[in-house]
Amino acid sequence: MKIAVTGKGGSGKSTVSGALCRHLAQTGHRVVAVDGDPNPNLGISLGVDREQVEAMEPILNALLASGHTHEDPTPDPEDLLTRYGWDAPGGVRLVATGKIERPTDSCLCCGSHMTTRQFFGDLGDHDRIVVADLEAGINDLLWARPGPDDVVLIVAEPSAKSVEIARRAREVAAELGVGRIIGVANRCTSDDDVTRLSGVLGGAQVHRVPEDPAIERADQLGQAPYDLDATSPAVVAVGTLAEHLAPRPARV
Ligand SMILES: Nc1ncnc2c1ncn2[C@@H]1O[C@H](COP(=O)(O)OP(=O)(O)OP(=O)(O)O)[C@@H](O)[C@H]1O
Ligand SMILES: [Mg+2]
Repeated sequence: MKIAVTGKGGSGKSTVSGALCRHLAQTGHRVVAVDGDPNPNLGISLGVDREQVEAMEPILNALLASGHTHEDPTPDPEDLLTRYGWDAPGGVRLVATGKIERPTDSCLCCGSHMTTRQFFGDLGDHDRIVVADLEAGINDLLWARPGPDDVVLIVAEPSAKSVEIARRAREVAAELGVGRIIGVANRCTSDDDVTRLSGVLGGAQVHRVPEDPAIERADQLGQAPYDLDATSPAVVAVGTLAEHLAPRPARV
């Protein structure tokens, strides 16, 4: 299964992606976490130390440093995952697609989208779950090109702008023929937040993740919410979402 996580900037994509990966791994799934943001920080939400996140070499930066050009053949995604992936807590394999560090890296933005697309399109999902935390907005969703076998999670907080971007994301995902489109009403404080999001998502299923001070606290400490307090309401809610998306494998 492949899951693309999209939504407005700051809506909670990385928070939800990180906790989702940890829950899925904890219930016995093999999980690959793809950080598709050119300002990668999914690692922190997964529980990787900040220094290690900084030290991670994203795929595109590594390829360009080794002289690879866009005209060269696309490298094998499994090989890239082996070479540039990191073992994050809980057994999650984390890989970042590209990072902008200097003004001259500005073209990496486009390159990062390409790498995300390659990953999302080419990485096999047999016997594992791939979760891609995409860059804010809808552009990256186009590049990731999720299809009929994939899931798109649209994360929105209860602001008019966030909900409007969710609506647009849903239209794009529907036009791409995505198999399952699921909303996540993040920082939810009332049923109205769920109803409003469900309304703009054409009646799609919406999972509720409550406003939770433990998430802010984890962010301040640079820790994964899952590690700080796995029993906090938002982390538990993402666990319910994980069970819904991918029930516990029978062997566990
Ligand atoms: N359920 C929640 N309760 C309280 N705070 C939350 C919740 N979800 C996210 N936050 C806070 O919202 C902020 C943004 O979260 P996050 O970084 O996950 O968003 P994002 O969509 O990945 O942002 P970006 O677009 O910059 O990548 C963080 O400060 C985080 O602590
Ligand atoms: Mg993020």
